[in-house]
Amino acid sequence: MFPLHRGRRLRVNESMRSLVRETTLSPADFMFPMFISEGENTETEIPSMPGIFRRSVDLTVKEVQELYALGIRAINIYVKVSENLKDNTGKEAWNPNGLMQNAIRAIKEACPEMIVMPDVALDPYSIYGHDGIIKNGEVANDITVDALVKMAVSHAHAGADFVAPSDMMDGRVLYLRQGLDAAGFQHVGIMSYSAKYASAFYGPFRDALDSAPVDITDIPTDKKTYQMDYANRLEAIKEALSDIEEGADMVMVKPGIAYLDIVREIKDRVTVPVTVFHVSGEYAMIKAAAEKGWLDHDKIMMEQLMCIKRAGANLISTYFAKEAAILLNK
Ligand code: PBG
Repeated sequence: MFPLHRGRRLRVNESMRSLVRETTLSPADFMFPMFISEGENTETEIPSMPGIFRRSVDLTVKEVQELYALGIRAINIYVKVSENLKDNTGKEAWNPNGLMQNAIRAIKEACPEMIVMPDVALDPYSIYGHDGIIKNGEVANDITVDALVKMAVSHAHAGADFVAPSDMMDGRVLYLRQGLDAAGFQHVGIMSYSAKYASAFYGPFRDALDSAPVDITDIPTDKKTYQMDYANRLEAIKEALSDIEEGADMVMVKPGIAYLDIVREIKDRVTVPVTVFHVSGEYAMIKAAAEKGWLDHDKIMMEQLMCIKRAGANLISTYFAKEAAILLNK
């Protein structure tokens, strides 16, 4: 009688394995994070993110069309503005002719079907490199939320489909929802970075935008007063539930691979789509190990993406979106 169960019957060959596979990946599972710079016809590769570029709007538009042809249906966009546009109010963030607003308009004009989700947070516009306005040496919550509302409404005016607040200020989802509705943008959704941890995995992203917190006396050089402590899980659930109550259409967990327990717990408790950000440092680690010949790039990429989906992600924001889509389309 031994053994009663032979699990290997279901693993005998690829046909059998494909019959019983519980999770699948397709290009529509991905969102592609894109860095946008000023100028025309220029692109710069991010040194700590091989294969990822900061591109001017015209080149970004071309890339978006390629992504759409590959089956990718959403992008997250981030801008790098010049130093002289940065201050402590973030006012460039709601300039109707700012880089972000111009980029949204150009992308939506060239590729109207692509879902465009601009980032809502002040760090690219802050002289301090913080996601909010500094007052008395702290990131001041409520005045920052007022600024974020102006920013999000300006994105909606430019044609954004969704806004994606990544700032972690308290109450911002509620105020963004009310602000968007009051301006006539009931149809513009909110994907909230709900469980965003204070993580060292964001290093390469801050290189890309030159947005790391600046080292000045009396101002924190980390984001731990607003991003979450990675020792915590209940707090992540609470953040997701309160963002949904405030009106979030989707919630996000960030980073990805080291946080899949959190993804599963949130997935089991909510009825909105759960998105996961597979962040810059996670991308950099795979690229670096593959460059050294220590890991098989494509296999590790697909394994990580599949595992994120298996953990409960409905959508994955990943710098691998294009490469993975090309592989999946083969
Ligand atoms: C800033 C923001 C960050 C990321 C997305 N939005 C960095 C940070 O919080 O410092 C990180 C994304 C990545 O690492 O890929 N609001």
